[in-house]
Amino acid sequence: MSNQIPEETIESIRKSNDIVDVVGEYVQLKKQGKNFFGLCPFHGENTPSFSVTQEKQIFHCFGCGKGGNVITFMMEMEGFSFFEALKYLAAKTGISLPESTMQQENSISKENQDILSAYEWLTKLYNHLLRHAKDGKEGYAYFKGRGLTDETIDQFKLGFAPNVNDFTKTFLEKKGFHSSMLVKAGLLSLNDDHSITDSFRGRVIYPIRNHIGKTIAFAGRTITEQGPKYLNSSESELFQKGRLLYNFDLAKKHIRKQNEAVLFEGYMDVISAYQAGVRNSIATMGTALTESQAKLLRRYVDTVVICFDADQAGLDGAYKAAAILQNAGCLVKVANVGEGLDPDGYIQEYGAEAFQKHIIDASDTYMSFFMRYIKKDYNVQVEGDRFQYIEVVLKRIALIESPVEREYYVQELAKEYDLSADTLLQEVQAYRQQSVKVKDNREKDRYTNKTNHFIKPKRLLPAFHNAERQLIAYMLQDASIADKVQREIGVDFNIEMHKVIATYLYAFYEEGKDADVSLFIERLTDETHRKYISEIAMIPIYGEITDKEINDYIRIIRSENKDLASMRHLKQQQKLAEQQDDPMKAAEIAMQIILLKKQMKEHY
Ligand code: GTP
Ligand code: MN
Repeated sequence: MSNQIPEETIESIRKSNDIVDVVGEYVQLKKQGKNFFGLCPFHGENTPSFSVTQEKQIFHCFGCGKGGNVITFMMEMEGFSFFEALKYLAAKTGISLPESTMQQENSISKENQDILSAYEWLTKLYNHLLRHAKDGKEGYAYFKGRGLTDETIDQFKLGFAPNVNDFTKTFLEKKGFHSSMLVKAGLLSLNDDHSITDSFRGRVIYPIRNHIGKTIAFAGRTITEQGPKYLNSSESELFQKGRLLYNFDLAKKHIRKQNEAVLFEGYMDVISAYQAGVRNSIATMGTALTESQAKLLRRYVDTVVICFDADQAGLDGAYKAAAILQNAGCLVKVANVGEGLDPDGYIQEYGAEAFQKHIIDASDTYMSFFMRYIKKDYNVQVEGDRFQYIEVVLKRIALIESPVEREYYVQELAKEYDLSADTLLQEVQAYRQQSVKVKDNREKDRYTNKTNHFIKPKRLLPAFHNAERQLIAYMLQDASIADKVQREIGVDFNIEMHKVIATYLYAFYEEGKDADVSLFIERLTDETHRKYISEIAMIPIYGEITDKEINDYIRIIRSENKDLASMRHLKQQQKLAEQQDDPMKAAEIAMQIILLKKQMKEHY
């Protein structure tokens, strides 16, 4: 697997990347006992069954069975090849790899590599023009006019595409890129008369980076208010709007640290908020939030603050986004920037501190937002309308699991409309009774935001099976135990999978390796083996492992072996007796079989 790169280098890359940190960039992990738990990034789930051990440097999902070490995690997560995963992890810790070894194995197509490379060149060029060239000074003036510092401009790699038909085309062709590929990448446009021109002309450029910071598309904004406000690169294999979040690469570590993300509508809102110190800022690409984006966020945070424009479109968008986020299990808050403003506008007007304090920190709970949002559909001055409004709100309150929270909102409502809180509470109770029948459990989780950290118990296994699992768990941890087991039973385990694992493990130790589950797992090419071992390695081991315990397990395994052999023998004898037409003997053997079966059951 790793013939080009020296094993010591791989070792040092693996050792310098703590699996808890690396996984933590994708999953919000919470410590529980010895292990960390989170929502599995490989399958959809609402209760965490994905676990990571720092001690053994491996992960395992008790839900879908995936497991491995930090390198295989990156391979699974990013679709990286082994080399790409190494390269990525090496770069994180400043270890250098011989570049020549990296060429051979790439998980992305040559064309996509070229597209990424074209975007990288252009991002640099457009940013350079904006910052330092005469051709970009309109763009620079534009961003300055909107209050951005040079540092922010560079951080977001903002740029300017000159208003020339073939500026980009010429530049990239000189670099050896083919125009047909560039058309596909959305950087050049094929016109009706078959001529090819630059897609972005005379616009400021917001590079759209994926979650690992690679530019995969551009959004070009007009600075003359001519044409559409934004032009985006067309969607491609690399650029899928519904799966990306703008600025996620820079925001994710803040998102994780604060256990909160702030979701905006516009690029400029994100940049402006980021500059103002709200670093956990992200946005969609001008499209409605998708389930896949919500799930991505949920892996990182409990809470998402929606901070959209205060106009009707913004409110409608917030209402829809809130539903999707709640569905994914997020706790939702909604910020209110006030009539006629967007978040960026607010920051320009009132400054960073006010934005943090009066807008983000003061955001509404979902329920308050809900009341505010639906109120506009009713004329609450009119009695009939008012009661309808109250009824809708009460129905929504009835869905809240926490009695304290329910009472809180009921009190609010009672106060506002001068009604009896007791009566309103009774009504809420009645709605709850009605909905109990239809409510499913997932909904319950969603509103309480409760997460249950429990692992499905495996069905009871026979004693010999447990003995084998436990023994392998020990052998993975301690070479001397593996040595003893090898001498005593070799690969005579009763379960096929255990025979295979034992064979690999003996070979591993014979190379002179110390016990190291993480390294051992990395060398297995078969995913079913990796899954199985990561699961066994998660078995907690308490206290000293005694010789007596090991011997007991070996005895149980051997005895099962012996019993199985006897059973095979008896069955042969039985068949023979039947062939020889000896019913007496056959019956006698049948008795013995029943006795042996009973005896074997007692081991269970
Ligand atoms: P500024 O006007 O510069 O503050 O931009 P903004 O990002 O705040 O724009 P706005 O609030 O109008 O729109 C929010 C988001 O919707 C933008 O960031 C874009 O993602 C998207 N959007 C707006 N207008 C267009 C458009 O004309 N075309 C496309 N493709 N997207 C747009
Ligand atoms: Mn705006």
